[in-house]
Amino acid sequence: MDPHSFARPQEVRVEHLGLRLRVEFAARRLHAVATFRVQRHRPDAPLVLDTRDLAIENIRVARLGSDGAADLSLAEWEPAAPWTTARWHLGTADGALGQPLEIALPDAMDVVRIVYRTSPDASGLQWLEPPQTADGVEPFLYSQSQAIHARSWIPCQDTPGVRHTFDAIVESDRPLQALMAAEGPVSLAEGRSAFRMPQPIPSYLLALAVGRLERRELGPRTAVWAEPSLVAAAAHEFADVESMLAAGEALYGPYRWGRYDLLVLPPAFPFGGMENPRLTFATPTILAGDRSLVSLVAHELAHSWSGNLVTNATWSDLWLNEGFTVYFERRIVEALYGRERAEMEAALGVQELEHVLRELPPHDQRLKLALDGRDPDDAMTPVAYEKGALFLRMLEETYGRPAFDAFLRGWFGEHAFSSVSTEAFLAYLDAHLLDSVPPRPGHARPDVDAWIFAAGLVPDAPRPQTDAFEGVAQALVRFGQGRPAAEIPAAAWVPQQWLRFLRGLPESTSLAQLTDLDRTWGLSQRENAEILAQWLEVSVRHGYHACDPVLERFLLRVGRRKFLMPLYKAMLAHGRTEDARRIYARARPGYHAIARRSLDELLAHEPD
Ligand code: BES
Ligand code: ZN
Repeated sequence: MDPHSFARPQEVRVEHLGLRLRVEFAARRLHAVATFRVQRHRPDAPLVLDTRDLAIENIRVARLGSDGAADLSLAEWEPAAPWTTARWHLGTADGALGQPLEIALPDAMDVVRIVYRTSPDASGLQWLEPPQTADGVEPFLYSQSQAIHARSWIPCQDTPGVRHTFDAIVESDRPLQALMAAEGPVSLAEGRSAFRMPQPIPSYLLALAVGRLERRELGPRTAVWAEPSLVAAAAHEFADVESMLAAGEALYGPYRWGRYDLLVLPPAFPFGGMENPRLTFATPTILAGDRSLVSLVAHELAHSWSGNLVTNATWSDLWLNEGFTVYFERRIVEALYGRERAEMEAALGVQELEHVLRELPPHDQRLKLALDGRDPDDAMTPVAYEKGALFLRMLEETYGRPAFDAFLRGWFGEHAFSSVSTEAFLAYLDAHLLDSVPPRPGHARPDVDAWIFAAGLVPDAPRPQTDAFEGVAQALVRFGQGRPAAEIPAAAWVPQQWLRFLRGLPESTSLAQLTDLDRTWGLSQRENAEILAQWLEVSVRHGYHACDPVLERFLLRVGRRKFLMPLYKAMLAHGRTEDARRIYARARPGYHAIARRSLDELLAHEPD
């Protein structure tokens, strides 16, 4: 059972969705018709769907019967016999979960059609005005469904334990490009676009974007979509994506989704990336010009196996998606850019993990989480990501890479298109690795329960190490002893080394030293968003005010939560609460609901 869904798929299960969407920028809403084909396992049981803030206009039911299951298209399907008006009921609203929609299914009815509108405040949609886009000429709409926001734009069995196929037809009141994470777009008459997802997916991977977008080919199976002014830069940044795809397949088996395209979103996107199938959504803040931040693409691509193909059964098992994906991401990065780069990123990850382990309550330090009664977005911490990845790295080191890779190939192959719990993974791990492959010499059978169910990190957890960071550590020592910034051997540093350096600056660093650093190395002018955000955080922590205007511009433009949280936190912790509140008041209308929720909590904003 999934505590974050009202659905009862053991009784009635959605198999296919046919969607007709009219995108109304003028009213900031979708006017939609969702048609579900369901499989009934318990006679008399109703179909229960998750919803949030949907205005239901009417619901009808019909019978499709046994035919047409394979290549079903339901968006514009009409039954031979007339529709029957359904009895339905919206249950009590729950703050985090929304409302259950219960629909009676008389006789042998197996198709349900719902006509509805979304709310302008739908938590899973962000409607942007032209000034919030790169080109500033047209509005933009995009969805973000993970974890439980699909229900705010499509009534659905909104649990990762249910998968279904879909087909869709999208039209808009502006002449813009509509995209869905699916096959397509196929252009129909009157500016309508058709899409089709033949592989069964969980609802959190339903995705839509509408904007002024252009497409550039990257390789035979890969392309990038972006606003016209960004598309050339994006194509340059992502030139390696086709090779990443090949590297992923060489590691863990065939890519099962046909194409792998990317969509560069406006900077308000609250995440770095989202692994929507066939069409990864990405923040423009990874367009650094030098391909230095493309491990994010390797990450979202890796989800095509870990997450989209083999899916966490509930959000308590998020580490099965994210920990596996971070491990896999680093293997792709290693294959393309070498061990050193992968190790630097792993070391930065462990550093981040150690940092949050000092702050998180013990029950949130476990891989298997207890999330009942909580917002599942809270599971997105470095524990699922970095502790999860370290756990897999430990298994690799204990059993050797060849045995571990074979194990993972078997895991993805045998569980393709299914949703699995942590417990199911542990049983598979016992049977196919721990009980059947001897540990390498000098290694003992690992304490799996401690990794999965206990707080903190086991003492012998792997420690990624790299010479590239040894040099940085030495530079930190010398700079700390008062040597000038010009002596830092950073001319050939990659951004990961700068991040290590900036994170390693001690509290005792003086304003004169920060000024020297900034003048010598131009940190306030960096285009690389990771370096700039880290530098701004350092500046706030040390009261270095020279880059306050840069900080304000950054907070007003970028909505990526990973950057916003540390910056606002640093402002609060260093006597700049007034500044933080003033900037937030201006920036908040442009932030996504997910970022607003985290920041409202931090800045104790009255909810609206
Ligand atoms: N699937 C996640 C984003 C997510 C997780 C959204 C949980 C909602 C709930 C995505 O794959 C991701 O992990 N994005 C990261 C980037 C990555 C390189 C660690 C992000 O956005 O920071
Ligand atoms: Zn991820």
